[in-house]
Amino acid sequence: MTLSYLCGHSLGPLVRSTRARIEEELGAWGRMGIGGYGKSPLPWMRYAHDLRPTLARLVGARADEVAIMNSLTVNLHMLLARFYQPQGRRRKILIDAPVFPSDRMAVSSQIAWRGGDPSADLIVIGPRPGEWIVEPDAFVEAIHRAGDTLALVWVGGVNYLSGHLQPLGRLARATHECGALCGADLAHAIGNVALDLDRDEIDFAVWCSYKYLNGGPGAVGGLFVRSPSPKEAPHPALEGWWGHEETTRFLMGPDFRPEEGALGFAVSNVPVLSTTPLHAALPLFDRYPFAQLVEKRESLIDYTLSRLMDLELPGLSCITPLDPGAHGAQLSFMIGPNRPRGEPLIRALAACGVIADWREPHILRVAFHPLYNGFQDAERLVQGLARIIRSGQ
Ligand SMILES: Cc1ncc(COP(=O)(O)O)c(C=O)c1O
Repeated sequence: MTLSYLCGHSLGPLVRSTRARIEEELGAWGRMGIGGYGKSPLPWMRYAHDLRPTLARLVGARADEVAIMNSLTVNLHMLLARFYQPQGRRRKILIDAPVFPSDRMAVSSQIAWRGGDPSADLIVIGPRPGEWIVEPDAFVEAIHRAGDTLALVWVGGVNYLSGHLQPLGRLARATHECGALCGADLAHAIGNVALDLDRDEIDFAVWCSYKYLNGGPGAVGGLFVRSPSPKEAPHPALEGWWGHEETTRFLMGPDFRPEEGALGFAVSNVPVLSTTPLHAALPLFDRYPFAQLVEKRESLIDYTLSRLMDLELPGLSCITPLDPGAHGAQLSFMIGPNRPRGEPLIRALAACGVIADWREPHILRVAFHPLYNGFQDAERLVQGLARIIRSGQ
């Protein structure tokens, strides 16, 4: 059966050339051993460096402002350790709900780690009752309300549940007006929506590479730190030898001199094998202007929504904002009571050839990745949903 893979918002599929790239690195390791650090076709010593220009383009930054390292939540902890600066009454962190649980855990534990009280210092702004997204006006209002008690705003760029894209520049501006810093989780945004972190004056951001970037399960993540940093961080860097300046790293001295820019936030050497899939996957984004990807994604979304509207399937409603500037590739559907839900729905869709996922409470998520999805995938989803919902399967 032909499958329509609509789960790129969760885990991107295997890029064809990835297998050969991994074989190549394994071969270099087998032949050269330690020599691969200098002599493998892509020397491991600077293995992630060549990927930075593409990532920088995807997030709208300079190459020196981005780096590949760790995983998303680890990077969030690393950056909060540096940029969360509770002082006097300025100690609160504001986040938007529904927030991915790991982000909330990281932020709460950082507050506690600094001797604060998450129940007092964490402000969570959620959607209005009966709604799914935090309206930007309400978000900005909450930022201004917190005013000079605010140390930091942490925003999910594209919301993992609703697929809503927040206006990052507007939120960063409001945050800066209050004298605080603004960071963003780009897990569902990078490779999905056009980003311009420099223009938007986002202070720092993190992402994972296994969703729209197709870097593979648990792939190495990345981070962005705006340069120059708008505030001198009073906390010292968390030091490790891979963040030390490259030219003197192997003099093995005891003192830490950070590498310029985002690379200075690294602590450990690059995990070569888990970075390899990105060497296969990221060049795909260099082949097409991003605007062309956005155009294709919008036509897939328009097609899907207009077909579903014609079919008037009972109990199914799209919660993703329909304004093209307020979403990416993901569509989230609320499934009403007495309809097929959860795992049974996902299994029934798989039997129709559609791979999608489910998030509590009662949300079906699909994504149309313009690099590999087409109209036949949209049609298969529409027909699958129609069959399942009408038969009450
Ligand atoms: C929005 C968001 N934030 C954070 C995470 C956690 O990522 P990691 O397990 O790579 O730390 C995920 C994972 O899917 C996510 O979707």
